[in-house]
Amino acid sequence: MATQDQSVVRLEDYQPPAYRIDAVGLDVHLHPAETRVTAKLAIHRAAATAPGTPLTLDGDGLQLERVEIAGQALPASDYAVTPSSLTLHEPPSTPFELVLETRLNPQANTALMGLYRSSGTYCTQCEAEGFRRITYFLDRPDVLSVYTTRIEADAAEAPVLLGNGNLVESGKIEGTGRHFAVWHDPHPKPAYLFALVAGNLASIKDRFVTASGRAVELGIYVEPGKESMCDWAMDSLKRSMTWDEQVFGLEYDLEVFNIVAVSDFNMGAMENKGLNIFNDKFVLADPETATDQDYAHVEAVIAHEYFHNWTGNRITCRDWFQLCLKEGLTVFRDQEFSSDMRSRPVKRIADVRLLKSHQFPEDAGPLAHPVRPRAYREINNFYTATVYEKGAEVVRMLKTLLGDADFRAGMDLYVSRHDGDAATIEQFLACFAEVSGMDLSQFALWYDLAGTPRIDAVPAHDPATGTLSLTLTQTLGPTPNQPDKPAMLIPVRIGFIGANGEELEVRPRGADQVRSDVLLLSQRSQTFTFEGLPSRPVLSLLRGFSAPVTLNASQSPADLLFQLRHDSDPFNRWQSAQDLATRELMRLYAALRSGDAVTADTALVAAIGEVLTNEALDQAFRAQVLNLPGEADLAREIGKDVEPDHILAARRLLRAAIGSAHARQFADLAETLGRKPFSPSAADAGERALKGLCLGYLAVSEQNDRAAIVTRHAREADNMTDRLAALTVLVHERLDGADDALAAFEARHAGHALAMDKWFTVQATSPHAATLTQVDTLTRHAAFDWSNPNRVRALIGAFSTGNQSQFTRADGAGFVFLADVVERLDQRNPQLAARLVSAFRSWQALERGRASLAEAALSRIAASAILSRDTRDIVERCLA
Ligand code: TRP
Ligand code: ZN
Repeated sequence: MATQDQSVVRLEDYQPPAYRIDAVGLDVHLHPAETRVTAKLAIHRAAATAPGTPLTLDGDGLQLERVEIAGQALPASDYAVTPSSLTLHEPPSTPFELVLETRLNPQANTALMGLYRSSGTYCTQCEAEGFRRITYFLDRPDVLSVYTTRIEADAAEAPVLLGNGNLVESGKIEGTGRHFAVWHDPHPKPAYLFALVAGNLASIKDRFVTASGRAVELGIYVEPGKESMCDWAMDSLKRSMTWDEQVFGLEYDLEVFNIVAVSDFNMGAMENKGLNIFNDKFVLADPETATDQDYAHVEAVIAHEYFHNWTGNRITCRDWFQLCLKEGLTVFRDQEFSSDMRSRPVKRIADVRLLKSHQFPEDAGPLAHPVRPRAYREINNFYTATVYEKGAEVVRMLKTLLGDADFRAGMDLYVSRHDGDAATIEQFLACFAEVSGMDLSQFALWYDLAGTPRIDAVPAHDPATGTLSLTLTQTLGPTPNQPDKPAMLIPVRIGFIGANGEELEVRPRGADQVRSDVLLLSQRSQTFTFEGLPSRPVLSLLRGFSAPVTLNASQSPADLLFQLRHDSDPFNRWQSAQDLATRELMRLYAALRSGDAVTADTALVAAIGEVLTNEALDQAFRAQVLNLPGEADLAREIGKDVEPDHILAARRLLRAAIGSAHARQFADLAETLGRKPFSPSAADAGERALKGLCLGYLAVSEQNDRAAIVTRHAREADNMTDRLAALTVLVHERLDGADDALAAFEARHAGHALAMDKWFTVQATSPHAATLTQVDTLTRHAAFDWSNPNRVRALIGAFSTGNQSQFTRADGAGFVFLADVVERLDQRNPQLAARLVSAFRSWQALERGRASLAEAALSRIAASAILSRDTRDIVERCLA
């Protein structure tokens, strides 16, 4: 296989830039096919650079029209230019102004990186390396410049012109039908934070007054007609601004904060300074088209991008290896924000579910990499669950280790010391070490070691002495490039539950091994001793999921049931239910796979019934308990030789047993829950989540009017959450009325692309043999569009990552289908294609027949003569 080692970028090779660009003046003449960009770059040689050292600027597919220094055209012999670089052989040794003119074709830009058009609106996406598609530049995050952007466009085509920072001038250009605006951003920033937007956009406006009394104009810009769907986003923005002041003491720093929603976007959103650009699915929300999950996502993504203003923009990354410096920290911050806005335990459960279902499999397969990678071929492929979600867990552990006060002091020091810097993980950690006096060198391994550590816990209780000793052993298996791994520092939060369910106050011997109720596991194996326990307590380990590890505590089913009823830590109550269900599902899977007759365990079925009707538990929490481990969770648990059809069957068997045993309660609850007028509040959302689960269980029960009940819910729903929940149950359980409900949904939402995405996803995730053909048919549906990433992800992405049994069909047709799609999309949009192909990442864990079919599909992609660097990187790592 051809590898391209020459194009690997390595952390150890980092060199500071030889030249700096202090100021950038851009003049952008927008035109759909022939946009002209004039860049005036104020450049100076770094002190450490010898005079006459060549200067190489990055480019990507650029066409250079003009190059001047100090008003003089540069002689051709003084420079070398290609679409991907511009080298000045001997730049002036004193500061100079370089003028570059490039010509772009935004409407031909299908990769959605650089300057492109989305439904007629001009917009940009520059992270990570998109600015080099606009002009030649030192396109690296440690080159910070002050930007002034003049945007000129046809006034009728693009009445709204937006840039970073504050608006300083605008006007008409007489007699041309064109107009212009000049934006100035006083804060030096790396090129990846540059943005401009121009188009026919409507907006909603608001105002925010910061804690120190400065007024900020807020604007959210969308396609005309969608203004009424922006209120939730605006509300979320204002709450984010207040929260960052109150919790981190961080205020906004410009007179304007604008958000633009576009419909063609590769990721969720982008934190461009003062001008965040969003995938419209994370801005638009109303009860008719958005689910409760959508509301929660809008709130979280708005917060995430806003919080980047400090953790990302004011303090940016030295190089892309430090990506988690801004992303892990900012995810942590948005998770904390959502916890404060909603239910903290329910948010924690949702975050851990996401971590386990996305990051753990990544960390266990061929795409595993450390939170801070040391090498990459394509940086776009490192915007991963590991960098984001595990990166956030590492920050959370830091807070657990230091305690609230020292963590906040460390954050304050980080902000004051590094404001205006392009920083590193070492500098970040040094702030926390300094304020706490802790040595964080062992903790820093979390950034460097790939893989999910396992902890084996073995308790031994001696009633004679009232002593309990707990031995914790950590194992971190080999991952690609990291065969031997040292012991890590793992915070294990712990509690003891007494015989009557009461919380026991117990502390171990040896104060240096513990911080409050957190054990500090720092050796491969360590024994903690606890006294004053005459009768055996039930242990509650890893409370709140205090570290991203897999815990093997081999509790008895009786202890897990006891924990489910009594643990004062809601997370572990949920976890104990998941553990019980996982064990039961594993047993059912093994039996089904060997062809044995098997029935579900009645004790577990009864325990779930208890939770269902336990009025003391809030409804969102009950919904989380009723939501059994997913197919991918079980595949991960099984680990190798996975047979997805039997996983599906095992889940179905257990769900049917639960559904039938409690059919009455499910039917009654479905009637009584969520009857009041819609509000997106967390409490009401929890009620609707529980109702949806009730319908799901009812559908697999023996209740004979079940199809009619679910159909009625689908028909009578007055909000998208309820409508989609009922539709999903009808389609996935193939109940009578499913086709009519699909048709009704389609008729109702035909004009609304984001709602139709849900219609695509429901069908793509249906666990039946006919689904693949249906997905293929839907690619020809009028609402489908290969050039829109949301459409592609809603149909193809949902099929390949959300429908395990059908994607991994035993005949390999799911793999072939995805390979075809990837080849079709790769030249058009490499980032999107690379993300889709990542669905193969767990192929080696499948049983042999499926694994070899997956390998064949991957090999076929790898053999393509033309393949983007993005897709080739993923495919080759999957096959390595
Ligand atoms: N920085 C963005 C975020 O965290 C991520 C992002 C948006 C991105 N668009 C991108 C990353 C395009 C790579 C390419 O929210
Ligand atoms: Zn981010």
